[in-house]
Amino acid sequence: EVHLQQKNQWHNKKVLISAGPTKEIIDPVRFFTNHSSGKMGFSLAEEAALMGAEVTLVTGPVSLKTDNKRIKRIDVVSAKDMLEVMQREFPKNDIVIKSAAVADYRPKIVYDHKMKKQPGNLTIEMERTTDILETLGKQKQQQFLVGFAAETDDPITYGKTKAGKKNLDAIVVNNIGQAGAGFGEDTNMVTYINKNLEETEIPLASKREVAKQILMQVNHDMKDDKN
Ligand code: CTP
Ligand code: CA
Repeated sequence: EVHLQQKNQWHNKKVLISAGPTKEIIDPVRFFTNHSSGKMGFSLAEEAALMGAEVTLVTGPVSLKTDNKRIKRIDVVSAKDMLEVMQREFPKNDIVIKSAAVADYRPKIVYDHKMKKQPGNLTIEMERTTDILETLGKQKQQQFLVGFAAETDDPITYGKTKAGKKNLDAIVVNNIGQAGAGFGEDTNMVTYINKNLEETEIPLASKREVAKQILMQVNHDMKDDKN
């Protein structure tokens, strides 16, 4: 039966997914973060589990819950923590999807004590974080590696550039300027671009439905790779 086959088609696959924002600490009271809710990554994890995969979900601080036995959840805080866990888990997995909104910068100095306010302006010096996806792209072996790109301008062009630079097998481009596709929404609307630069539009739908469509494209492209 076709439906049952589809349900179990990833029973021998291990899938690693990153989700949510990262939180970059300034002092015991303050931090930098972003608007990511984690919904897209958690939806991908649930749908991969439905396809029979063994899922590892590495997530920044979010308010979402998971109680699926096929999903092993690992909570992290900063971009540095996420890098460490993703690098550790990477070799064990067949499919890796980086939907997390990782901070590009963190405060150069983290204060142990609360900063006291002073007269005048405050400047906080920021340093670059490591690009996790690019690091994994360099270490890639058997894995099918999927990135995300959140853009407001010229999403397809930027998406294709990122996919090439990071050695990805596919990229999911998210035009966050469009209605229904922004951070924290229950819906999304994306373009999936594979290694051959073939574009597939995934129209506005619930994040669960969009996740399912993304995984179907991944499944299709993985089969192509073997030929
Ligand atoms: N990413 C990552 N590590 C970082 C920054 C980004 O792994 N330190 C990953 C994200 O998880 C996503 C992809 O890179 O899968 C693209 O993230 P995005 O913010 O769209 O692109 P950047 O390469 O960071 O470029 P910019 O923010 O300047 O557009
Ligand atoms: Ca970024």
